[in-house]
Amino acid sequence: MADRVPPPGLVPRPAAATSSVIRDALALAGRPDVLSFAGGMPASELLDTEGLRASYDHVLSHDPRAALQYSVTDGDPLLRELIAARSTLRGLETDPGELLITTGAQQALMLLATVLLRPGDTVAVEEPTYLAALQCFAYTGARVVPVPADDEGIDVDALAHVVARDRPKLVYLVPNFQNPTGRTLALERRRAVARLAETAGFWIAEDDPYGELRFRGAELPWIRNQTGARDRSVLLGSLSKIVAPGLRLGWISAPPALLRACVLAKQAMDLHSSTVDQAAAAHYLGSHDIDARLRDGRVLYRERCEAMLSELPDALPAGSSWSRPDGGMFLWVRLPEGYDTAALLPRAVDHGVSYVPGAPFFAGPPDASTLRLSFAGHAPPDTVEGMRRLGKALA
Ligand SMILES: Cc1ncc(COP(=O)(O)O)c(C=O)c1O
Repeated sequence: MADRVPPPGLVPRPAAATSSVIRDALALAGRPDVLSFAGGMPASELLDTEGLRASYDHVLSHDPRAALQYSVTDGDPLLRELIAARSTLRGLETDPGELLITTGAQQALMLLATVLLRPGDTVAVEEPTYLAALQCFAYTGARVVPVPADDEGIDVDALAHVVARDRPKLVYLVPNFQNPTGRTLALERRRAVARLAETAGFWIAEDDPYGELRFRGAELPWIRNQTGARDRSVLLGSLSKIVAPGLRLGWISAPPALLRACVLAKQAMDLHSSTVDQAAAAHYLGSHDIDARLRDGRVLYRERCEAMLSELPDALPAGSSWSRPDGGMFLWVRLPEGYDTAALLPRAVDHGVSYVPGAPFFAGPPDASTLRLSFAGHAPPDTVEGMRRLGKALA
């Protein structure tokens, strides 16, 4: 019998950003006895199960054949209209023709990476940043350069230095209540990033799934709305945190040539996002007062954030520091030097609590003493108990 020849190997790709220790510990964190502050899930109380069921009922009873058919790549026309109107109301004049509906903002990120980046191209990111964006960029073989950031977002002078030195094609930012730090990019810095893009010629990807979850302070305008940014910036949006992540619906708002390239890439990837989900989402947005629900959501998140903030001084070792978000779902903790939050995670899970260690969110050398807590998922009594457990685990 002839020797068996193995099939060809896989294309070598950068290893998944999270270590197996973290993955194992987070898998255990799904146990019912563990209070998890790890996931980026919206509060389940905010999911409008009745409203969404009614919208699915509606589209499946009024025009089921259309809802179940193939559709156009750009997205459901009514959904694009409603999202464009919402963006316009929030201060960014948007035409439905500027929008592509995507399968979550995550797909929008992968589309952007696909159409903009070749191996060796440079992407600049604020440090730390959304870890699944780092994964998208890594897939293309791009070089990711971290830029320092503080409580007001990316350090614009440091960005100017990176831009002059590394000539990034793309600068990736999460301007509002960033994942993982919860911080918000200051208005003056938004203007400065736009000015820099204009003079240095790079793309800005402004990823904003959390912008409508502000529970403190005044809303800030998007970078895409700043002078000079319109033809070199892309705004990514999502229904995940304002309606439901299971819909898997997001969008890109981009200049025409870049949008066309994304449409072609999406066509090759999945033809279009689910017809029935888009139709139900459009019906839902058009027939329900989602602003009233968002108002309730912001009250809930503020209460949960404050419950967590008030427990942290007792729970965390002396010398720890943490962010004070104005919205969104996350806060970021730095323990004193010498703590290693990845190594401590199994111990935390043994104590019945979990978080995400900070290391995977870094594009450069990680700060092992950092961690991300999501305050969105638990009512104050569980948060109090969770932070008590965290305190014991870290003691
Ligand atoms: C900054 C950021 N961008 C994009 C996403 C992906 O969102 P979606 O559910 O729309 O794919 C997330 C999800 O947590 C996120 O935090």
